[in-house]
Amino acid sequence: MTAAVYPGSFDPIHQGHLDVIERAGQIFDRVVVGVLDNSLKECLFSAEERAQLVRESLPAGSTVEVVHFSGLAVSLAVSQQAGVIVRGLRAVSDLDSEFQMALMNRRLEPRVHTVFLTTGFANVYLSSSLIKDVCAHGGSIEGLVAPSVAVALRRRLAPGADPSLGAFEEAG
Ligand code: PNS
Repeated sequence: MTAAVYPGSFDPIHQGHLDVIERAGQIFDRVVVGVLDNSLKECLFSAEERAQLVRESLPAGSTVEVVHFSGLAVSLAVSQQAGVIVRGLRAVSDLDSEFQMALMNRRLEPRVHTVFLTTGFANVYLSSSLIKDVCAHGGSIEGLVAPSVAVALRRRLAPGADPSLGAFEEAG
């Protein structure tokens, strides 16, 4: 049985990520999405919220597991008994940093292999940052993220939204 972890920030998850998850599911027996809980990186959503949004974005009946983690991606892989880290590649510009990370991860844990999957053409320009920017400025993000993610984003970023209301109180 070959298991793979797909670590990332997922702040929030979008169609490009979902494409990678779907392809990973076609290759590996078990796929675990690892949502990074990183105090060094400021995120719009908490790790629990991001993990919940990943779950809500997956198709009904999906067997993909979702966890949030802190620490190294290779430690997540080892703790999940996964021999593979999956990362998505959009364009050549991603390669520099991804190559660096893959080599560092290999140095840290040679038993864990990094596998790169390309996102489809339709999603190649997508990034969580771009989607947040468009949403914050009132643009349409329909079709770029799952409906519950769109609701959560609008609640959190829409001008005039009541900041005391959490994304999940309103998304539910
Ligand atoms: O979605 P992102 O932000 O591009 O994902 C980056 C991520 C989470 C994969 C990377 O920052 C990571 O693996 N962080 C965990 C800490 C770690 O393992 N650092 C060493 C990586 S070489």
